[in-house]
This record gives sequence, C-alpha cells and structure tokens, in this order.
Amino acid sequence: MAIAPSPPSSMLVQDQCCLLPRYPFLRSNSLFHPPLRNRSSSSSVQHRLIVRASSAVAVEPEAQTQSEEGFKVDLFACPVCYEPLVRKGPSGFNLPAIYRSGFKCKKCNKTYSSKNIYLDLTVTAGSKDYNEFRPARTELFRSPLVSFLYERGWRQNFNRSGFPGPDEEFQMAREYFKPAEGGVLVDVSCGSGLFSRKFAKSGAYAKVIALDFSENMLRQCYDFIKNDETILNSNLALVRADVSRLPFSSGSIDCVHAGAALHCWPSPSNAVAEINRILRSGGVFVGTTFLRPSTPALFRSLGRGSQNYNNLTAEEIEDLCTSCGLLNYTSKIQQSFIMFSAQKP
Ligand SMILES: C[S@@+](CC[C@H](N)C(=O)[O-])C[C@H]1O[C@@H](n2cnc3c(N)ncnc32)[C@H](O)[C@@H]1O
Repeated sequence: MAIAPSPPSSMLVQDQCCLLPRYPFLRSNSLFHPPLRNRSSSSSVQHRLIVRASSAVAVEPEAQTQSEEGFKVDLFACPVCYEPLVRKGPSGFNLPAIYRSGFKCKKCNKTYSSKNIYLDLTVTAGSKDYNEFRPARTELFRSPLVSFLYERGWRQNFNRSGFPGPDEEFQMAREYFKPAEGGVLVDVSCGSGLFSRKFAKSGAYAKVIALDFSENMLRQCYDFIKNDETILNSNLALVRADVSRLPFSSGSIDCVHAGAALHCWPSPSNAVAEINRILRSGGVFVGTTFLRPSTPALFRSLGRGSQNYNNLTAEEIEDLCTSCGLLNYTSKIQQSFIMFSAQKP
C-alpha cells in the first residue's frame, strides 16, 4: 500500500511554486559556497575567549546565533562530525519553515535538506548509490504497509502485553519529564508520531523533534498532522536520523522520549550512549519497551531465543542506563511493559 507523500498544504499556500524544498541539494555555485570558514568575517562573526588549562589564552572565531548573510547556527548538528549546522531560509522552528530551509555543516561542507516532508539528517543523506540495510527489526518499520497499519491496530495490540495505552503512557512520561519541562524534547523512534503529536500539542516544551529512521513512518506522521493547523504551526520538526548517530550537539537536549523502541534498535548500548551524549546535565530520558523475562544466570549463555527483537530484562535495562552514565534510574512494570527513566548527571 503506497502512501504518496504530498507537500504540506500550508507550505503551498505560502509558496505556490514550492513543490520541492527551497534549498534541495545545494549546487556548487549556490549561496552556500565557498565554505563559510573561508569568507571574510565582515559582519557579526564574534570571537570567544577560550581559557585553556595551561592558562594560555586563545582567540577562536565562532559563528554565533546570528551569523553572516542570513546563516544562523541551528539546533541540529551534522551526523558526521556533530558540528552545529548553519541554516538558511525562513526563521522559525516549525514544519513549513524547516521544509523551506537549507542546512550545511561548515566543517564537512555537507548539505542537508528536507526530503518530501522530513529533514534527512542521516549520515547517508544525499547519497546516490549507497543503500544501507539494517536488522529486520529496523527494516520492518520502513515498510509503507507497517507504517500505515501502525496506528490502525498494530500499536493497540501492545495493550495485551501490559502497555497502558498512549494516553496513559503520555501522562506517565510527562510526570518523569517535569524537571526538564519547557526545554527541547526529542521523541526518538517516534514511529508515526503518536507521542510527538501529544508532546507538541501540550505546549509544555520549547521544541519537539519527531525523529525516526523510517521514511514511511515520518510520512505517516505528516499525514496525521497535515490537517491540524495547531500542530502544523507548533514548534515541531520531522527528522530522519539513526538513534546511534543523533544529529544534535552534546549536552543540547533537555528530554529524550523513546516509546516502544529499545527492542527495535540495532544496538541499544550505542543508542543509550548517544542519548546520554545529547542530554544536558539534569536532562531526562524516558523509554518504554517489551521486557524479556529474567533467566537464571546458568541459562543466559544459551542465548535469547528469537533474535527478531532485542528484548532486554529489567535488570539489563537498568544496567545499560547506568553503564552509559545515567543516574536516578527508576521504572514501572506491568506484565512485559516497562517504562523507565534516568537522568544525565
Ligand atoms: C514500535 S515503533 C515505536 C513507535 C512509537 N514511538 C510508539 O511508542 O509507538 C519502533 C520505531 O523504532 C524505529 N527504529 C528502528 N530502528 C531505528 C534506528 N536505528 N534509529 C531510529 N529509529 C529506529 C522504527 O522505525 C519504528 O518507528
């Protein structure tokens, strides 16, 4: 069942000829060239004093929020080198503005733009020949059919395993996020945006980023919000990225939510380490997943049975969060459902 992405209606209203992002793949003669770092710093490139341990003082140029020729340093960072991206285009953190903006890493010289309706911030964004396939648990959700069915019965089935359902899970997550409310929230592995939409609509967060690796889940997410002006113009971005390579600078995010996701990740340890990296001190990580029942130590070496999903035990999840450096671990369990939370020190 193919779900053809359509350009956001409000974007067309604003720019009738805009069937493609304003800055699709930037050509070598585009405004993004030559590289910014080679340009004369005539305008507002400011300087920062860096005091090193040796007490030597170095002066390094650093582009500030408002840099030259309309480029602005953005919240998003390059997935290759983690340098903050610069952005050119309409200001504002909402779907139409992001869709019509171009992004560039000044360090790698790599450009990023919106593909269909989401901003593609995967390492392979823009690659022509290379195609990467992930484990089945990731690939499954890239299918148009699964993405279409996800909120049309698939997710509801989780209740049988003890998931309380989206409304209650959302309320539980909000409680955990209280210490970081008002900040930037990333809904990692958002799927079709079940929770991202609720977070955006709540108005409790400065910015909400709905992030997933599946192109079709993101398209589905857009389909759910395209007729809802409140969400369309809220502080919401749709981003394609890999949880093991999150496109944000270290310490820049207040809240990370990952609903029913950990068991789908290719490497939960890389993912949780990455989540820890992007969280600011005091930032909160909340996740849910399906538990694997604990097995006596004697049998653990025999393997985990089905490798379709990466189901962990409650002990393993706590151990994983702690070994990645997160503190204040807490959890609620109901049958196979677990909601856990941990905090960046
Ligand atoms: C079961 S869905 C969860 C959707 C939603 N968060 C929820 O609570 O219902 C799992 C999601 O994880 C995503 N996923 C799998 N591998 C991923 C990866 N490497 N990076 C980011 N997301 C990934 C899938 O695309 C899928 O949308």
